[in-house]
Amino acid sequence: MTPADPHSPNHDALNTARTARDLIQRGAAYFATSGLGYYHGTDNALDEAAVLVRHALRIGYEQPEAALDGAISDADRARAVALLERRVATRKPAAYLIREAWFAGRTYYVDERVLVPRSPLAETIEDRFLPWVDPDRVQRILDLCTGSGCIGIACAHHFPAARLTLTDVSPDALAVARINVARHGLGDRVSVLQSDVFSALAGRRYDIIVSNPPYVPQAEIAGLVEEFRHEPALGLAAGLEGLDIVVRILRDAARHLTASGILVVEVGNTQDVLAARFPAVPFLWLDFAYGGDGVFLLERTQLEQHLASFEQAAGVPGTTG
Ligand SMILES: C[S@@+](CC[C@H](N)C(=O)[O-])C[C@H]1O[C@@H](n2cnc3c(N)ncnc32)[C@H](O)[C@@H]1O
Repeated sequence: MTPADPHSPNHDALNTARTARDLIQRGAAYFATSGLGYYHGTDNALDEAAVLVRHALRIGYEQPEAALDGAISDADRARAVALLERRVATRKPAAYLIREAWFAGRTYYVDERVLVPRSPLAETIEDRFLPWVDPDRVQRILDLCTGSGCIGIACAHHFPAARLTLTDVSPDALAVARINVARHGLGDRVSVLQSDVFSALAGRRYDIIVSNPPYVPQAEIAGLVEEFRHEPALGLAAGLEGLDIVVRILRDAARHLTASGILVVEVGNTQDVLAARFPAVPFLWLDFAYGGDGVFLLERTQLEQHLASFEQAAGVPGTTG
């Protein structure tokens, strides 16, 4: 049974829905029989259907629940059904279909040039990296591997006096980050720069370096569900063990941090591999009230103490300073 099959029970159910709530429930039932993966902003069929239906019918999450129960027009229904069917037919994450994703309570423009924002770092940012920094003394923050810019821009909102630098090696990603900087009206405090890890940042120091770099090991790439294949490979793949970019960050971060600066990096389920690779390093693994794990924090002094092991792991010594 194909998504667009006009004789399928799903098609009939969707096309006789009378309200947005009907559409969401029937859309979720349709998704549940279609083998979709939910890793890009929602984690279940009902929430995924709701994102698409609300977008098609322009019912924002700020509106009262009752907005889902009003009668819908034929044109609205047709638009929502088309979107639900595209989700199944293309296996694209919902965020790419609607060109929008939520992160730390705000929306971001996204398309296939960037990963869909979903990092647990949103919570750390909302907590203003407490208790590891004094937020009022934070002047400069670097978001390495910025993609859509969501992490750095969220930091800019939570540190209204700080200057932000957003970097990525991908010109495509930087184009999207610039769209989001403009969309959030932050052009005066946030700069966007192309850089291969720290290569374009010689001499610059930050109070916080935060990063969600690529960290998927080579062997895991082939096993990822279809939805991930719409994301840029550069945003996911990071060599044999998934550590190629992370070890470069560890090697060079200390010389780009202020004396009391901190490095905060997401490595997801590559956490165990990283910890085993550097058994003497006191990675502080952050806890998250709203789910997620695999984010470590290190202070500059700790990075300096273990510099030799990072240099050895990354191959050659770093060149920026
Ligand atoms: C996992 S994505 C994260 C994007 C964004 N920070 C987020 O959380 O949604 C990793 C990003 O790292 C970028 N990247 C990959 N290799 C890089 C490198 N050598 N130097 C800088 N950025 C790199 C990719 O282009 C991609 O945008």
